Amino acid sequence: MSMEQQGARELLSDRNLALELVRVTEAAALAASRWMGLGNKNEADGAAVTAMRRAFDTVEISGTVVIGEGEMDEAPMLYIGEKVGSGGPAMDIAVDPLEGTNLCAKGGPNALAVIALAEHGKFLHAPDIYMDKIAVGGGLPPGVVDLDASIEDNLRNLARAKNCDISDLVACLLDRERHEEKIARIRALGARIMLISDGDVAGVMATTQPESGVDIFFGIGGAPEGVLAAAALRCVGGQMQGRLVFENEEQIARSRDMGIADPHRKFELLELAAGDVLFAATGVTSGAMLRGVRRFGHGAVTHSVVMRSKSGTVRYVEAHHSYATKPAAQHY
Ligand code: FBP
Repeated sequence: MSMEQQGARELLSDRNLALELVRVTEAAALAASRWMGLGNKNEADGAAVTAMRRAFDTVEISGTVVIGEGEMDEAPMLYIGEKVGSGGPAMDIAVDPLEGTNLCAKGGPNALAVIALAEHGKFLHAPDIYMDKIAVGGGLPPGVVDLDASIEDNLRNLARAKNCDISDLVACLLDRERHEEKIARIRALGARIMLISDGDVAGVMATTQPESGVDIFFGIGGAPEGVLAAAALRCVGGQMQGRLVFENEEQIARSRDMGIADPHRKFELLELAAGDVLFAATGVTSGAMLRGVRRFGHGAVTHSVVMRSKSGTVRYVEAHHSYATKPAAQHY
């Protein structure tokens, strides 16, 4: 193991880093929350990106953004390849400063600020295209679901493994025309459905939380979101597979350029996010897992989760941010 790898591994075990990351997602969530319900997803996203980028300046890593806001020529900040952090072990970073821009703009549930961190080379360098995904929570036999199996077989296997009827299961999908056939087949089999308008990182994560009522996530969403969701699942348990979905040849070529030798293959959870992973998210708007930012005259309260794959610990952090010591220009 090189000195650099060792440094990265030690840092991933460093509990302080987990808290540092939460500060970064808190900053993004606080900034985005100003735009909640104001109908302007671009402003909300821009505010989250700027705040997250700034907050990274104090984190002691030499980070490289591998999942970010886009290519260098299309994103001014947090673009793929951008270096962030104040210096330290080399780490790869996957970010979504505002996952669910529409959710935030409309005041809908489950908008999040998200970061995942791993040693260099451990995240799939997914281009900003679609990915077909399937995910279930922890405590199930390996291989209980498979992207290549039929919807019917997956639901039957899952019901058997959970010792329940198919009608007890709830499948979560993005509410999109492209899922019409899947939705019809799930209904025909008698399983129930939760359609979400956006935010499939939260959709995948819901499978790991019994209180969410979601048993399985199906369908096509963003590929970068797939990597972030996989990083979360690595920390809390669960199974996931993903396959890139191409709309044209240019996207296939771009995937190859980003280092994906076989862009058509099915990626297992450990190929989406390998090694030791740290994951942090702060709620912008409330959802099953996190409460959204609550603002008061004197400050704001944020609710975050930070988790580490190595220890399997999941920590919830409620932070009270006060305006008392800050000049008005720095109010979130
Ligand atoms: P943004 O935060 O970039 O708006 O993404 C929201 C989202 O719903 C993701 O969670 C999901 O993966 C993707 O968009 C689905 O894309 P589309 O809206 O094109 O179906």
